[in-house]
Amino acid sequence: MSSSTIKHLAIIMDGNGRWAKERGFKRTKGHEVGAENIRDITTYCAAHESIETATFYAFSTENWKRPKLEVEFLMKLLDKYLKKELETYQKHNIRFQAIGNIDAFSKALQKRIRDTEEITKKNTNLKQILALNYGGRAEITDAVNKLLQSEKKHVTEKDISQLLQTPYEDIDILIRTSGEERISNFLLWQLSYAELYFSKTLWPDFTSEELDNILKQFTQRHRRFGGL
Ligand code: FPP
Repeated sequence: MSSSTIKHLAIIMDGNGRWAKERGFKRTKGHEVGAENIRDITTYCAAHESIETATFYAFSTENWKRPKLEVEFLMKLLDKYLKKELETYQKHNIRFQAIGNIDAFSKALQKRIRDTEEITKKNTNLKQILALNYGGRAEITDAVNKLLQSEKKHVTEKDISQLLQTPYEDIDILIRTSGEERISNFLLWQLSYAELYFSKTLWPDFTSEELDNILKQFTQRHRRFGGL
């Protein structure tokens, strides 16, 4: 078996609500602890020898369907998270980027996101991407609409790739926590050849030790990209 190098890791952080319920807490407590956990996993990725990008699904286009109070809580939590994490980004030389349609967020939150991107843009150790109001189909549809406005009569995969929010960012491994085994409209294009790993652990309990074990297993797998 040949070994595989992990450059881009993507995570669907699922199970915050169940984690809280099991402990008799409100669902929002699960999100709070879940947000803290992003820091641990991100700093692990920054210290990892080959990982260049870690993408986390923090808010999907479908998450607006949640109760208004939970959505409001998530928005405030995101603002608090970015304010606090600036120190982590600078200390560990991490660049922050957002993907998704953040126009739907408050002006203050949009500013926090854009400012954090700007301040960290020269950091080179790791790129942390948060998918915010993100949907894979919406991302591909936006790219197609841009192409329709061009003069092109024929488009290639490369044309579409270049117009995605994460051009050429193919994903090596996708992890989803909490035992659910779905893609849920995450990075549909970029996941084409990704290895998929489903962990039973609820996101707030997911540790860098478990991640380390998963990545060790992954490097044993032989990725053939459709060849032999
Ligand atoms: C799924 O748990 C989690 C999400 C809605 C996305 C992840 C959100 C966080 C980790 C917290 C906020 C993030 C930031 C960056 C501030 P769930 O509510 O679907 O859990 P359940 O399936 O057990 O109900």
